[in-house]
Amino acid sequence: MSGPSPRTHLYLLGAVLVIGFIGFLAVKEIAIPASWNYEDWYREDSLKDIASLAVVYGGNESCQTCHADEHEEIIEFKHQTLSCESCHGPLIDHAQDGKKIAAAKVDDSTTWQCMNCHEKLVNRPPDFPQFSVARIEEHKEVAKGVLCLACHNPHDPAP
Ligand code: HEC
Ligand code: HEC
Ligand code: HEC
Ligand code: HEC
Repeated sequence: MSGPSPRTHLYLLGAVLVIGFIGFLAVKEIAIPASWNYEDWYREDSLKDIASLAVVYGGNESCQTCHADEHEEIIEFKHQTLSCESCHGPLIDHAQDGKKIAAAKVDDSTTWQCMNCHEKLVNRPPDFPQFSVARIEEHKEVAKGVLCLACHNPHDPAP
């Protein structure tokens, strides 16, 4: 009586593993970008891609030339460490020859631009000023739709 060899299932298993491995190598070959750097484990062309992006942020020093008053105001108060553009959006090219050529963002219609940093979160340092239930006495008005800017100046935020 001759039936399948008792080892047939082992040969089959081996074949599945070998085909799987070859398949893996083929997919890997296709999926890995051409400029992959195996030593430092990154795509080298990504540096060129990033360098070719347009610069959109001017930095606080660039604002200073035309907005000296706002600059002097903000550095005296608690928002002194902030970038102007974290609230006003990227602004490298909003002015040319002393004239405004594109509008800067001055969003005074939502609480989001403040809550982005001041929303009470457990992972924020406890001494960071947060809009919290503990301070609800001062903030009852917010529930009625009164905006942060009604009581706080964004450049000199102490109420
Ligand atoms: C070359 C000069 C110049 C530079 C540099 C400049 N601005 Fe302005 N900015 C202006 C002028 C001009 C206006 C219009 C003022 C007006 O209408 O009274 C303006 C207006 C604004 C306004 C008011 C909103 C608006 O659209 O009118 C904001 C906010 C502002 N700039 C933020 C910034 C920030 C932040 C920077 C730095 C990233 C910056 N500006 C750099 C010239 C400049
Ligand atoms: C915390 C967010 C925040 C930061 C940081 C900030 N601003 Fe503002 N800024 C505002 C808001 C909000 C207004 C609108 C105020 C209003 O409507 O009463 C404003 C208004 C302005 C205006 C227009 C004033 C006017 O009378 O129309 C200028 C110019 C300006 N900011 C420049 C700057 C510059 C320059 C810096 C950095 C030195 C800066 N801001 C940093 C939120 C910010
Ligand atoms: C990009 C982050 C950021 C944004 C956006 C921001 N703040 Fe602040 N705020 C700070 C930092 C940082 C401090 C200083 C914290 C400290 O002193 O430890 C601060 C401090 C404050 C304080 C405490 C002032 C004091 O004298 O103790 C108030 C109030 C405040 N911000 C209100 C606002 C309001 C209102 C807005 C929206 C217009 C706003 N903040 C937007 C980061 C932010
Ligand atoms: C009706 C006026 C009013 C409005 C609207 C308001 N605040 Fe306040 N806020 C205050 C007062 C008053 C204080 C307390 C000042 C104190 O005790 O030093 C305060 C304190 C704060 C503080 C500091 C808390 C601390 O622990 O030191 C932060 C942050 C703050 N407000 C953020 C906000 C944000 C964000 C908004 C908008 C969502 C907002 N506030 C809207 C009046 C207001």
